[in-house]
Amino acid sequence: MSASIPQLSLLWVALFSLLSSIAANGPQYPTTLEVDIVFPRNDTYAPVDAFPLVVAIQNNFLSQFLEFDMVLLWVISHVDDNQSIESGSFETNPPTDDYQRYLVSATTKLNSTEGRFALYWKLDVNNCSIANVNANGTSTVDNLYASYTNKIYFTLQNGAQPPDLVAATSPDTCASTVAIVLNITGYTPVPGVLPIPGLSPEEQLQCPILRNATVSPSPCSVRLNQTQAASISASATVVACDKWPTDYPGYKAACESEPESAAPLLNTVTVQAGVWVAFSVSFVFTYVF
Ligand SMILES: *[C@@H]1O[C@H](CO)[C@@H](O)[C@H](O)[C@H]1NC(C)=O
Ligand SMILES: *[C@@H]1O[C@H](CO)[C@@H](O)[C@H](O)[C@H]1NC(C)=O
Ligand SMILES: *[C@@H]1O[C@H](CO)[C@@H](O)[C@H](O)[C@H]1NC(C)=O
Ligand SMILES: *[C@@H]1O[C@H](CO)[C@@H](O)[C@H](O)[C@H]1NC(C)=O
Ligand SMILES: *[C@@H]1O[C@H](CO)[C@@H](O)[C@H](O)[C@H]1NC(C)=O
Ligand SMILES: *[C@@H]1O[C@H](CO)[C@@H](O)[C@H](O)[C@H]1NC(C)=O
Ligand SMILES: *[C@@H]1O[C@H](CO)[C@@H](O)[C@H](O)[C@H]1NC(C)=O
Ligand SMILES: *[C@@H]1O[C@H](CO)[C@@H](O)[C@H](O)[C@H]1NC(C)=O
Repeated sequence: MSASIPQLSLLWVALFSLLSSIAANGPQYPTTLEVDIVFPRNDTYAPVDAFPLVVAIQNNFLSQFLEFDMVLLWVISHVDDNQSIESGSFETNPPTDDYQRYLVSATTKLNSTEGRFALYWKLDVNNCSIANVNANGTSTVDNLYASYTNKIYFTLQNGAQPPDLVAATSPDTCASTVAIVLNITGYTPVPGVLPIPGLSPEEQLQCPILRNATVSPSPCSVRLNQTQAASISASATVVACDKWPTDYPGYKAACESEPESAAPLLNTVTVQAGVWVAFSVSFVFTYVF
């Protein structure tokens, strides 16, 4: 009995120092975070009531350590006259600790018209620089963020395939996904946030320092199977239910029943700009733990 106590406490010391070294050291830098525009793709689809918009974030767990404050603004326009049809945004606050995170939204305006469309997007992400942020959390410049813009063209045609998230991430098509690699080389205190005394920098949220990436993105690491695709489609419907008038054809069938197929992926899907009804409770728990 007396012999086992030192062994037990050694074990605890080892376990404790392992856990605290993960907490104290945080991730190793440089590291990368990738934002993939999973859907839509450069392809032809049938018009649908709730057209999904899907973004994947790889290495999302870094947001436990770094305050990215990512905002991805989107605009869908007609290509011929560049008339905007609908716009919105994806946001990553509150952060989650999922390794891979999906952000899901939808447009209800691609329900009938055939034609050529563009999805314009602009991603803003915090980019601090040691030179610009004082140790006390004050900043010497105003816009501490990096911006990335791009666009994707797609076609709507009656009789074409409906939006298919499995096909969009399949091995033969994934390589052409539009994606951004953030090259994170270090961190500074978050401007405007005083460091918490007694905690190491790694134990509080820091502002990432970004450099241009030299590596190619790896969107093919995002593979959606039928279950996940169904769950994301259900999430897109939840967003659409918040936009449709209640007398919209199909509203009752799509919006007044429980979105059960959305359940399996509750931990990794974040529904954007929708009323979270069934999602909010699980989402809060995901965040807290
Ligand atoms: C989009 O797809 C079409 C048809 O497959 C192809 O000709 C075109 O080069 C693609 N455009 C881009 C930007 O990938
Ligand atoms: C078309 O609209 C997008 C989004 O509003 C805008 O960023 C882009 O500059 C416009 N293009 C032209 C040629 O006006
Ligand atoms: C369906 O699409 C048309 C334009 O194509 C749009 O005017 C209408 O508002 C859409 N319906 C809903 C409920 O959003
Ligand atoms: C923060 O540090 C900067 C540079 O060291 C200094 O000029 C500024 O007064 C400090 N601000 C506060 C609130 O202490
Ligand atoms: C981030 O900011 C630094 C300092 O202003 C700048 O040198 C660097 O190019 C920026 N990174 C990106 C990816 O824009
Ligand atoms: C980083 O990328 C931006 C945008 O593509 C470009 O304007 C800038 O010149 C690049 N900086 C360096 C140091 O290559
Ligand atoms: C990140 O930026 C640093 C500094 O510019 C560069 O040496 C490194 O190769 C980049 N890493 C990646 C993965 O792009
Ligand atoms: C789909 O992928 C998820 C996540 O990787 C996995 O948990 C699930 O078992 C997969 N389902 C099927 C039917 O392959």
